[in-house]
Amino acid sequence: MSLFLDVFAGKETQRFPLWMMRQAGRYLPEYQALKQQYRFDELLKSPELAYQVSMQPIERYDLDAIILFSDILVILECLGSQVSFDPEKGLSISPQLDLNDLPQQIKDPKTTLNYVFETIRLIKARHPERTLLGFAGMPFTVLCYALEGKGKLSFDPIKSAYYGQKDTLLAVMDILADCTIEYLLAQVEAGVDAVQVFDSWANVLDWEAAESLSVNYVKKIVTGIRAKSQIPILYYGRHASQLWPLLQGTGLNGISIEWQVDMIRMRQSVSQDIVLQGNLDPFLLTQPWEAIADKVYSYLESLKPYKGIVLNLGHGMVPQAKVETVASFVEAVKAFNR
Ligand code: CP3
Repeated sequence: MSLFLDVFAGKETQRFPLWMMRQAGRYLPEYQALKQQYRFDELLKSPELAYQVSMQPIERYDLDAIILFSDILVILECLGSQVSFDPEKGLSISPQLDLNDLPQQIKDPKTTLNYVFETIRLIKARHPERTLLGFAGMPFTVLCYALEGKGKLSFDPIKSAYYGQKDTLLAVMDILADCTIEYLLAQVEAGVDAVQVFDSWANVLDWEAAESLSVNYVKKIVTGIRAKSQIPILYYGRHASQLWPLLQGTGLNGISIEWQVDMIRMRQSVSQDIVLQGNLDPFLLTQPWEAIADKVYSYLESLKPYKGIVLNLGHGMVPQAKVETVASFVEAVKAFNR
């Protein structure tokens, strides 16, 4: 029995299933405590530690889905780059990717990223009844980071590549897309119940580019997964509400909606076969519960008549979120019968 999977099966559920993007991480004192001892990349690469971090928000809040603790950038190991995270300097990828000088051989994600699959197996062995989400970055977003080698992006290299070297860019994106399909299928094989693809930067180029660099790759990745698995596939993009007319034809099962958008209007526009996930402003959870309770209740009330909804935030949890407010929020959603 999984409320989350029931929604994807088109069933009526008694309440909305709930999970939160970036539900594991810096706003949790128990995560901060582990970070005193281990670096981010150490947490990711040790299945036992990644297991613990994945479970931290579940132990605290009993959410309806676990999301694997990892990062969208680890796939770059298959292209010979390592991702690290220094508390002072931030995220770094080395070496940076050079579109014109890719490694001769792309490493097989199934062996290179074995620690990810090991983490999935640990979670499913210990909590077979829980719903586990796997994920990957979309090739465009991963490349935005890989070309700059850091977390704060200017987008100059990716945009210059699009206008000056489009064929090369697309060829590298194709390699990354094939790798992503293999990576997600290996997550499915290890035991995840659904996957979400993250295309955080789908909005930095224009509409035409978004179609060519994001939507076409959603089609490619969904088709690749569908050849072997019927698992629900969700999409998060910081533009998803504008791209939906195009995303709708890709075979996706769910779209994550940003908080700037009217969820009800979206629910009325998008095909019933597609689940919508979202879309509260993550900032709300930085406030005392009393300051946001009315807003949360009226939001839930407004969604009451609709099927095909998974409750979530409109983007990732922010580090300043208050653990007490998150607790009250989760309680309110769970107590809200439809
Ligand atoms: O959601 C979860 O709880 C699961 C784990 C998860 C992380 N990153 C852990 C993480 C997921 C799903 C991601 C996705 C991710 N990673 C995205 C797409 C979603 C989005 O937010 O748009 C992107 C763009 C990244 C790349 C990334 N990872 C950056 C740019 C950074 C540094 C800046 C930042 O936000 O901290 C990270 C680091 C990162 N990934 C942290 C966590 C918990 C923080 C590391 C730390 O300080 O301990």
